[in-house]
Amino acid sequence: MYTLPAMARSSAALVLVLHGPNLNLLGTREPAVYGRTTLAQIDGKIRRHAARRGAKAVCRQSNHEGQLIDWIQGAAGEGFRAIVINPGALTHYSLALRDAVSAVSVPVVEVHLSNIHGREDFRRHSVIAAVARGQIAGFGPASYLLGVDAALQSAASGRPSRRPR
Ligand code: DQA
Repeated sequence: MYTLPAMARSSAALVLVLHGPNLNLLGTREPAVYGRTTLAQIDGKIRRHAARRGAKAVCRQSNHEGQLIDWIQGAAGEGFRAIVINPGALTHYSLALRDAVSAVSVPVVEVHLSNIHGREDFRRHSVIAAVARGQIAGFGPASYLLGVDAALQSAASGRPSRRPR
């Protein structure tokens, strides 16, 4: 008999938080831009924030586009109700990541630590934003917490992940 994965049986809403390339270096990477908070500290904040909302966050980081795509494709099967993703530099050019976000019915919220719209020209465009439920940028680690709130609201609202044409 088919049994759901353990996480899918849990009653708390599950949110998958994905960090893209180079975000493992937070804390030492360009602290003037990204701050001194490490990824482990951010993940702790995210998990505690989700718990205060009665939800559970699972945080993963990869420097590899294909790994992020595999996690997005597998999210529903793992029991996740929503995804929060900081795609790092893949934000600006990865059509494969965009297609993965577009392909799944799980709502996806795009987040950034920095305000990408106030930085270099190449960072001002996101190829992900149009297929994400929305984007939160510029609030440092709090962008992720706002992203979790938006993801939980999106999961509860049941709206389609695509914008109406
Ligand atoms: C970032 C912004 C991207 O332009 C950059 O490549 C990152 C981090 C952010 O969180 O501000 O890696 O996504």
